Amino acid sequence: MADHSIKGKTVLIAGGAKNLGGLIARDLAAAGAKAIAIHYNSVASKPEADKTLADLKAAGAHAVAFQADLTTAAANAKLFADTVAAIGKPDIAINTVGKVLKKPIAETSEDEFDAMFAVNTKAAYFFIKEAGAHLNDNGKLLTLVTSLLGAYTPFYSTYAGSKAAVEHFTRAASKEYGARGISVNAVGPGPMDTPFFYGQEAPDAVAYHKAAAALSAFSKTGLTDIEDIAPFVRFLVSDGWWMTGQTILVNGGYTTK
Ligand SMILES: NC(=O)c1ccc[n+]([C@@H]2O[C@H](COP(=O)([O-])OP(=O)(O)OC[C@H]3O[C@@H](n4cnc5c(N)ncnc54)[C@H](OP(=O)(O)O)[C@@H]3O)[C@@H](O)[C@H]2O)c1
Repeated sequence: MADHSIKGKTVLIAGGAKNLGGLIARDLAAAGAKAIAIHYNSVASKPEADKTLADLKAAGAHAVAFQADLTTAAANAKLFADTVAAIGKPDIAINTVGKVLKKPIAETSEDEFDAMFAVNTKAAYFFIKEAGAHLNDNGKLLTLVTSLLGAYTPFYSTYAGSKAAVEHFTRAASKEYGARGISVNAVGPGPMDTPFFYGQEAPDAVAYHKAAAALSAFSKTGLTDIEDIAPFVRFLVSDGWWMTGQTILVNGGYTTK
């Protein structure tokens, strides 16, 4: 029987410096992960990467950080190669990278379209490809998508559209990697209390989203909180291994599929 616990495992988290990715990194360290590589993209994220790194080391994990724009196949190949060189082959690979745009189709430029699909679709695809090449047998692979995949709504065409492709990457990868015991899933949080969400939303939309979920009244912020997602991720990349090929919306009853 494979050991599905987090204890002693090696982890790579793209976007693992801050917000949801940073909490997932800390949570897996607390659960006993042996080594964790976190990735960040922009220079502005470096202080948060340094803080996360210090917290992971304080929790007893061997921790390293890598900077990369992951919108090329080569960058994803380098991230996995650097990770293997620094901490060994990962047992768990989690991609939290994302980019959001709230805009009518009529106002969306070609450059905006390309940027959205580069981050949410292309980077996710090549992360999944490299994970297939580098994950240990019985590994776990997870991508963050969005609960908008279950919504019928205007203005998020490039965001929901570019994340929607990941559902099919997940299905294919779970079949292709399943012979090696690797579980592959996608998790779609509801609107989440991080700067990622507030950057695109006017106050009236924030107020709407704070009351839109069935369980809104019982959440800290009314929104999905990163503390609600991290335990679910921990379960999926450990004892929840039997779930594979799925896109799961975790949102307190905001949208369903
Ligand atoms: N917050 C929400 O309302 C919400 C709801 C549902 C789903 N999600 C999804 O949850 C995930 C985490 O979001 P979050 O709220 O925790 O916000 P976040 O910390 O801003 O996460 C987005 C991450 O993507 C990285 N990134 C952006 N462009 C990149 C590029 N070209 N190459 C590599 N990395 C890049 C960012 O790094 P830098 O900042 O360093 O550029 C950041 O670490 C995202 O995939 C998002 O789509 C968020």
